[in-house]
Amino acid sequence: MGESLRGLKRTTMCGDLRESHIGNVETVMGWVQKKRNLGGLVFIDLRDREGILQVVFGDAINSEAFKKADLVKSEYCIAVTGKIVKRESPNESMPTGMVELQGENIRILSESETPPIYIKEDLDAAENIRLKYRYLDLRRPDMQRIFKIRHKAAKVIRDFLDEKGFLEMETPMLTKSTPEGARDYLVPSRNFQGKFYALPQSPQLFKQLLMVSGYDKYFQIVKCFRDEDLRANRQPEFTQVDMELSFVEEDDVIAVNEELIKKVFKEIAGVDVKLPIERMPWKIAMEKYGSDKPDLRFGMEINDITKAVEGCDFKVFKSAIEAGGSVRAIKVPNCADMGRKQIDKLGEFVKTYKAKGLAWIAYKENEIKSPIAKFLKEEELAAVLKSVDAKVGDLILIVADKNSVVLQALGALRLHMCKELDLLKDNKEFRFVWVTEFPLLSYNEEEGRFQAEHHPFTMPMDEDIQYLESDPGRVRAKAYDIVLNGEELGGGSVRIHDTALQERMFKVLGFTKESAWERFGFLLEAFKFGPPPHAGLAYGFDRMIMFLAGTENIKDVITFPKNQNAYCPLTEAPNVVDEKQLCELGIGITKEEEKEEQ
Ligand code: AMO
Ligand code: AMP
Repeated sequence: MGESLRGLKRTTMCGDLRESHIGNVETVMGWVQKKRNLGGLVFIDLRDREGILQVVFGDAINSEAFKKADLVKSEYCIAVTGKIVKRESPNESMPTGMVELQGENIRILSESETPPIYIKEDLDAAENIRLKYRYLDLRRPDMQRIFKIRHKAAKVIRDFLDEKGFLEMETPMLTKSTPEGARDYLVPSRNFQGKFYALPQSPQLFKQLLMVSGYDKYFQIVKCFRDEDLRANRQPEFTQVDMELSFVEEDDVIAVNEELIKKVFKEIAGVDVKLPIERMPWKIAMEKYGSDKPDLRFGMEINDITKAVEGCDFKVFKSAIEAGGSVRAIKVPNCADMGRKQIDKLGEFVKTYKAKGLAWIAYKENEIKSPIAKFLKEEELAAVLKSVDAKVGDLILIVADKNSVVLQALGALRLHMCKELDLLKDNKEFRFVWVTEFPLLSYNEEEGRFQAEHHPFTMPMDEDIQYLESDPGRVRAKAYDIVLNGEELGGGSVRIHDTALQERMFKVLGFTKESAWERFGFLLEAFKFGPPPHAGLAYGFDRMIMFLAGTENIKDVITFPKNQNAYCPLTEAPNVVDEKQLCELGIGITKEEEKEEQ
């Protein structure tokens, strides 16, 4: 049973009350966090979006209200009126802890069943239960903190871009497949049976069309949809801060975005980002960190020791080098005494990255221990130690294979060691880096052809255009990613606006004229009408909020996220639909596979 609000107005939020309010009569409304009956007094911790306030009802003050207050239970929604007084035993750990409200009147606006999850901070409930009762989960103060950050970050970004002359414009959700390369979410059409819209993986093509229309500069905070394998930093629907600018080069896009990053991180997290942000060509990132999103907060870079072991007797090294591969190493400080078992575990770890094994050298005070020492002449061993600049206490971990395997395995091992050794325990750094000069194309071995690394509209670097046909693999792109602490925060590129160059690009990608027009015809058609030079970038907004709020789980920053299987335990979507709906769409289900475990 719920009482009405008639005649009652909230005068303040629970969390806003301070000593300056003492003496006021206030009306607050919210949810019961906790109730205690201490004989003649009932204490209620009342919670709203802004915080928690202690409310006290005394038998002596108003025995009617006291009796009613004693009826409430956790998560009842109530309204209370009374005087703000100084608290006899202040609670320094609560922002409202100096005061309390002396309840004179109480209305029970609605009752609550016992909630299936506790509404408190750092809750440990199973994720699917939290997601099923997400509206309760969202009552938690630490969730409310995150969504205030999210709101404020969006506002800072909007205000900044508005000031810089950007226009916020919307683009369609029901559209045609976009070129970002993940799997599309499809929506069947009723009017055109057998045909489908695709939900946008990004507004990429539309924002380029807006440049053709002269709406430079554009931005949008927009939902994007990608049906891909989910991880801690990926959701099937996520939000981008998307932008596109005309008459600009790479440096212009980077410059405005550095200002944006500086402003957002300062205003929301109080972090000073030093400008300019470091830039690192992709090739260096790969060679030193084995990753296109290097975490620069700690060292342990990868060293090429191929030269030092070129002439050695160790078959594994020899054959890797002869096959055009390399031998590389990372140096882990203070780990020369690591036990055999632990090192074997590291060997198992790199095998998950396709490395065939892990060689190691422990540089101890009085000896050098290594299973490969027997294959190395003294001077070869010395050369290895020198090329990684080894010091007493170092453990050197070595992988030999083709370059891609070596770099990937050691890049992952580097991150793994960082975690194992807890190297970033007290590190509060926000380490940004622009990764630039990405390869334009990558070779898809399965399909035996080159494919676009970003998308087919990415501009090659001027000095590399000449190799587009003769040596596609060496062509670098005017593409850039902004990386923060080893995560890809955003990415973009300069686009091709020249039809002849675009046609060359399509040819290299193995598109026939017809197949290119079939997929992207509307953009190619538009480019017949004076497209301006243009470039852009998009941030993963959810990922940005993860950093600003200090959480490692993307679900924490999305109001109603999906679980690992792209399933929503709250609404139970995706779900079956009526036969009639399917009929209208001309769709028949041939095989229904029901997953037991969502
Ligand atoms: P890109 O595909 O790199 O570029 O996407 C931009 C940024 O979006 C974020 N992101 C995601 N976040 C959460 N869940 C996902 N599934 C997910 N996928 C991507 C990442 C990424 O850096 N149109 C181009 C941008 C451009 O060229 O202007 C694009 O979409 O943080
Ligand atoms: P083996 O002679 O095969 O027992 O290997 C000797 C050492 O070399 C072991 O420590 C292996 O883990 C290591 N090893 C094997 N293959 C590789 C490789 N591709 N790269 C680096 N070390 C390797």
